[in-house]
Amino acid sequence: MTDSKRKILVTSALPYANGPIHLGHLVEYIQTDIWVRFQKQRGHQCTYVCADDAHGTPIMLKANQMGLSPEELIAKVSSEHQRDFAGFMVGFDNYYSTHSEENREFATLIYQRLHDAGHIARRTITQAFDPEKKMFLPDRFIKGECPKCGAADQYGDSCEACGATYQPTELKNAYSAISGATPIEKDSEHFFFKLGDFEDFLKSWVSEHVQTQMIHKLNEWFESGLQQWDISRDAPYWGFEIPGAEGKYFYVWLDAPIGYMASFKNWCDRNGVDFDEYWKPGTDAELYHFIGKDIAYFHTLFWPAMLQGAGFRTPTGVFCHGFLTVNGQKMSKSRGTFIMAETYLKHLRPEYLRYYFAAKLGSGVDDIDLSLEDFRFRVNSDLVNKVVNIASRCAGFIQKKFDGELDSELTNAALYNEAVAAGRSIADAYEKREYGRAMREIMHLADKANQYIDNAEPWVLAKQEGRESEVQACCTLGINLFRVIISYLAPILPKVAEDAAQFLNIDGFAWDAIEKPLLGHKINKFKPLMQRVEPEAIEKVIEDSRQNLEAAQKVAPKKQAEKPAKEPIADTIEFGDFAKVDLRVARIAKAEHVEGADKLLRLTLDLGDETRNVFAGIKSAYKPEDLEGKLTVMVANLAPRKMKFGMSEGMVLAAGPGGKDLWILEPHEGAQPGMRIM
Ligand code: MSP
Ligand code: ZN
Repeated sequence: MTDSKRKILVTSALPYANGPIHLGHLVEYIQTDIWVRFQKQRGHQCTYVCADDAHGTPIMLKANQMGLSPEELIAKVSSEHQRDFAGFMVGFDNYYSTHSEENREFATLIYQRLHDAGHIARRTITQAFDPEKKMFLPDRFIKGECPKCGAADQYGDSCEACGATYQPTELKNAYSAISGATPIEKDSEHFFFKLGDFEDFLKSWVSEHVQTQMIHKLNEWFESGLQQWDISRDAPYWGFEIPGAEGKYFYVWLDAPIGYMASFKNWCDRNGVDFDEYWKPGTDAELYHFIGKDIAYFHTLFWPAMLQGAGFRTPTGVFCHGFLTVNGQKMSKSRGTFIMAETYLKHLRPEYLRYYFAAKLGSGVDDIDLSLEDFRFRVNSDLVNKVVNIASRCAGFIQKKFDGELDSELTNAALYNEAVAAGRSIADAYEKREYGRAMREIMHLADKANQYIDNAEPWVLAKQEGRESEVQACCTLGINLFRVIISYLAPILPKVAEDAAQFLNIDGFAWDAIEKPLLGHKINKFKPLMQRVEPEAIEKVIEDSRQNLEAAQKVAPKKQAEKPAKEPIADTIEFGDFAKVDLRVARIAKAEHVEGADKLLRLTLDLGDETRNVFAGIKSAYKPEDLEGKLTVMVANLAPRKMKFGMSEGMVLAAGPGGKDLWILEPHEGAQPGMRIM
């Protein structure tokens, strides 16, 4: 070992306790786990902690919706998350929850210290309030018509139809996504963390502890000014109550990163490790956070400032990664590429994905693409055809002819030494998170090992008289090269490494152990270490992912995530999606103005055997009297929506850019009310 034993604490972001782990998340947990396994293999004291991020409004509402207490929901999700992580061999030393006593204590302590040092401000702000549920509404829980284009059912921050961004107060006919009630405005006192107090500290901290690509982003943030951060929420809220402030709670993002400390503390207490050794200012212990680029603001500004202000050490490094796309596009439920960890594991081995991600990952924040065709090709050609093949080509001869015993010396020590020497550069690549480079260098060694065996032709020698010792010599070198390569791949392929250790009859793969080759050593019978990826298995994953979507649509009518994943507008749909839409011809029996609405008309639609009440945003184009008696096309099976003015039981179809240029679709040629459109 060149550097002495380091003390390293590593974290991945804490997944929200209201949804399943999917392949996008796994980019991060696999990236981190590889780094941790590498550090452990090098002999360092490395600890990897994580937890569920268990607080906040979405979790409170989701529990409510499912008829569970928040505690029950987070317990259920935590066990699912841990099952999925274990399935992908993500080896946390501790997996905890932000809803824990340790976290309450640290959150309180940090808040208290920031408060005492004058870094907390109080101010009264006005926010949207749901008068029915008696709660303040986060932006994402206010919906209404887009102030720009008038599209209905848009979220409080941006319009999915026209892309406009705005304040929730600008929405027309706003309603609460929770109760449907019209929000009112209400005042309340909030607590703010004065981030600006830390501007100088942050500017210098950032320059040394985050990736260059991120520094550009951070400079933009510095330029636009560091705003005070609202860290309190009013009851009802699911989280920790702020000491000395009844009815006020810490905003989930305040106690979430503190969850890193809490999880580590919980582990320290159970393992007799001194927590302060890692968290006191000036400590030589290292602290690294692996995160996605979407949560960089929290980790590169708020978090180091909070730690600094509260008298703790600050992170040694914050490592941001990019987002996962599948087949070149955003993961999509309808295409079956929104793949959950559990679904993948039903059909495919976790190490395939670990290897593929490793081959694609660099140290930067670029997005990475999982191309399913390339995935199969890459795994089969690198792992199965190249790496595993080295052992399977040599093992049989050693077993049959030499009773499992390797030769007592190396014929081609130069080749072996070259492979060992490559370890320096490979270690450097792992350390810098340049896994793609590490994989290329390892595959280059595998190519060389295969070429050596191709040239030596042990299968030819084995048939010739008096050349026994040459067979043993070349297979001994082959097996030793295989050992070196598996040692380098061990952080990526934990199970393959374990099985290979059993085959090689060794304890494991300490990084430096390969300096001594295995000579005069007995190995065990070889068993196939990895099967090929079959195209059918991938098809099944896609198929199952589509079915998950259908099942989810049945049980969860309303999406309530902190950051609901938005599907791109240009996304295609499957025939099945189209077939779900029930389009019918309707006669506009009555059209009326709606008191207080500047875009909407109330239509009474005659479907032949029933009538429907529908609100349509077509007032700019039609006078009500011109519509009456016309035939139009409606979506007859749209779930009824409660709007400010009453229930809307469907939707009429119109064409055009909007405003005056909007034409309601009018079927002709014998169309009758109630007819289906196909
Ligand atoms: N709960 C917060 C993190 C709090 S950390 C103190 C959160 N949770 S999350 O479940 O939404 O995401 C967890 C991690 O997974 C984040 O780092 C996020 O960037 C990452 N990813 C989630 N979806 C992803 C992709 N599609 N691709 C790559 N990483 C993604 O954020
Ligand atoms: Zn719009």
